[in-house]
Amino acid sequence: TYVVTEACIKCKYTDCVEVCPVDCFYEGDNMLVIHPDECIDCGVCEPECPPEAIVPDTDPQAEAWLELNTKYSEIWPNITRKKEAPADADERNGEPDKYNKYFT
Ligand code: SF4
Ligand code: F3S
Repeated sequence: TYVVTEACIKCKYTDCVEVCPVDCFYEGDNMLVIHPDECIDCGVCEPECPPEAIVPDTDPQAEAWLELNTKYSEIWPNITRKKEAPADADERNGEPDKYNKYFT
């Protein structure tokens, strides 16, 4: 599976949603997650994300985020269409420690 990581928080560009062939993205207030059982590992979303928030589960970064993706993809609603990014998305792109500051 692929995993959405911290860089998505408060950026939420949703370019990833547009390309996913199985619609396995789920939307929270400040970030998206991937449902690990639905992702078919095609990898097409990875290069679409401006802040490079999407990584394969073989990436060292993925481990810390897989549990969060698993949990919230069962709770948050499915998102299948790209939508406008938050107004401050570009400002938040690359900001450190976004989980502690903004995750809700
Ligand atoms: Fe969707 Fe493919 Fe990305 Fe998995 S790797 S979330 S199936 S686009
Ligand atoms: Fe988030 Fe990147 Fe998708 S910022 S919404 S994972 S395009």
